[in-house]
Amino acid sequence: MMRSRPPLVEVENLSKRFGTVVALSGVSMRVFPGEVHCLLGDNGAGKSTLIKILSGVHRPSAGRILLDGQEVVFHSPRDALDRGIATVYQDLAMIPLMSIARNFFMGREHVVTRGRGLLARLDMRRANAIAREELARIGIDVRDPAQAVGTLSGGERQCVAIARAVYFGARVLILDEPTSALGVKQASVVLRYIAQARARNLGVIFITHNVHHAWAVGNVFTVLNRGRTLGTFGKDEITREQLLTMMAGGRELEELSAELEEFARADAARAIDVAAEEKEVAATLRREVAFGSGFSDDGRRP
Ligand SMILES: Nc1ncnc2c1ncn2[C@@H]1O[C@H](COP(=O)(O)OP(=O)(O)O)[C@@H](O)[C@H]1O
Ligand SMILES: [Mg+2]
Repeated sequence: MMRSRPPLVEVENLSKRFGTVVALSGVSMRVFPGEVHCLLGDNGAGKSTLIKILSGVHRPSAGRILLDGQEVVFHSPRDALDRGIATVYQDLAMIPLMSIARNFFMGREHVVTRGRGLLARLDMRRANAIAREELARIGIDVRDPAQAVGTLSGGERQCVAIARAVYFGARVLILDEPTSALGVKQASVVLRYIAQARARNLGVIFITHNVHHAWAVGNVFTVLNRGRTLGTFGKDEITREQLLTMMAGGRELEELSAELEEFARADAARAIDVAAEEKEVAATLRREVAFGSGFSDDGRRP
């Protein structure tokens, strides 16, 4: 793996106990800029616990977090966010009946507030313009940013949540199962955007159960199993089948081989879809890298 730059964020020997439950045990992981680091593992593997520590929700029982090489302690999600670690959870924390623009600026209304004190009010014209522009940049054409978020497709909604995090200065983007509830077409909308975030030099931690999705955009794969890491692998060091085998590690062999067969069948059935999806994402990525993404170093358009 070519990883000559220093990591954006690093966790060292993280452990977390909940009472007698050991959710994480001695896990280390490094995330580099311009990299999509996929975090894979079965249910209960410890993925959410790991990212909740990284995003300031939980304090680790042992181990430490380093940001740009400096140890940091997060006391709250706000702490992590202020340091540029943004997490988009599957349930999104968006209000479907509120407008796209209001959702975009939720919790950051001060950015688009005009006037002071009793006269303070939201500058909705500006909020709408910014939301529309930011979404247009990622290929989502919102004619009316005043329309309710609930009118967007699932993939578009995920993209709004990610665009919001990026706009407000995320350097490390943590995505917890962003494509799991989506169909192939909607998932590819999100995958394409993940590829763009990577081209903009963010560090992305992409949690997923779906090896195809991981494979389409991931550079690096860390597999967790029962709270322990089974290792970190570059794309050239492992295959999709090996990743799946590892994810299922510890289960009965028969159960596993059944799943592998199912995987092969599904793969054959979806071969065209998957191949097209991977090709499209790869092509987007190549374009962005080859011709420059049009974004300056801080991720904003000049
Ligand atoms: N708040 C909690 N209290 C007690 N046990 C927990 C808590 N959060 C997670 N766990 C346990 O820790 C283990 C890892 O869970 P989790 O990190 O959610 O796994 P994953 O996201 O990979 O499915 C599981 O055994 C889970 O039951
Ligand atoms: Mg989870």
